[in-house]
Amino acid sequence: QKVELELEAIEKGGFEHFMLKEIFEQPRSIADSMRGRVRADEGHLQLGGLRDYLDQLAASKRIIIVGCGTSWHAGLVAEYIFEELARIPVEVEYASEFRYRNPIIAERDIVIAISQSGETADTLAAIELAKSKGATIFGVCNVVGSSIARATHAGAYTHAGPEIGVASTKAFTAQVTVLTLIALEAAHKKGTISDAVFRQLLAEMEQIPLLVDKVLQNAEKVKEIAYIFTYARNFIYLGRGLNFPVALEGALKLKEISYIHAEGYPAAEMKHGPIALIDEDMPVVVIATKDSSYEKVVSNIQEVKARKGRVIAVVTEGDTQIREMVDFVIEIPPIHDMLMPLISVIPLQLLSYYIAVMRGRNVDQPRNLAKSVTVE
Ligand code: AGP
Repeated sequence: QKVELELEAIEKGGFEHFMLKEIFEQPRSIADSMRGRVRADEGHLQLGGLRDYLDQLAASKRIIIVGCGTSWHAGLVAEYIFEELARIPVEVEYASEFRYRNPIIAERDIVIAISQSGETADTLAAIELAKSKGATIFGVCNVVGSSIARATHAGAYTHAGPEIGVASTKAFTAQVTVLTLIALEAAHKKGTISDAVFRQLLAEMEQIPLLVDKVLQNAEKVKEIAYIFTYARNFIYLGRGLNFPVALEGALKLKEISYIHAEGYPAAEMKHGPIALIDEDMPVVVIATKDSSYEKVVSNIQEVKARKGRVIAVVTEGDTQIREMVDFVIEIPPIHDMLMPLISVIPLQLLSYYIAVMRGRNVDQPRNLAKSVTVE
């Protein structure tokens, strides 16, 4: 028993929990997911596992992305990126729904299955269904040789390393990294982005590990905010554009490990219902970075403040406008809009982690949850 405990402590590398270790590993896991694939100075991008399928991807009329939970959220981020950069229509489906609703799949369609474990039963079944209808399936998996990796025609592994905490963190950012690279490769091949934009995005991708590290250095600040909201009973998370799936992911992380009820919404949807929930007891986390929807998000924050909601805003460094309107701010560095989820999700992971720890929860193995869901 003592030996086992000591072994676990070594595996945790000095961190109190695997989840915290995995959050802090992200500068490396993101870099590892780009290693050998990206060289921005040479304008080089190649995903070896997709080489033979690149023409088909660039020519495809539709991409369907399937996954569950956090992997589904990574798919939602990818939808924005593929559509914006490569101009290919994308549908993102919960694997569990897709497999049972007689989906329309054309032979030239490409299905991208996202799964950390590569063993999720619903995702595997969705792949088999799409395959039987003639689609080409790409996998974005973390576990080499897993069932999903083997069932797909081609793919690109995320190189996040083993993820032990049940709440997925570094796998999410690795998935978004790899999906962004696939979208960039397709866009470059199709010519829907200029060479200059392609090179600029690659260069900014290479900066991500450094920027994530910068956000992590701010962890103490997030911890202080977590302390204040430890006993909240509900949370709302708001974001627009690429930060909408990040809001969903932030809410999921909080639910999973702290057991606090949390909902993620696109900020503009709030007035269609959830605004009724807002009062002085409702913490609202708003991802309000300086991007094309900034001004709109500012109005959404005003709507919350007018109803006495308590706002924690994730803002771009140096933002003074939002600082004056809200209760707490967490600053993150600026980056291209398309890459923002890789940075903006980090404080939300930390927030859920610290709240769960302060509530005395079993962070790495929350109740009722398994690391991979191999039953439907
Ligand atoms: C994430 O924090 C969850 N524990 C869960 O939603 C997970 O992402 C989902 O079960 C999918 O798992 P997979 O990526 O291994 O397929």
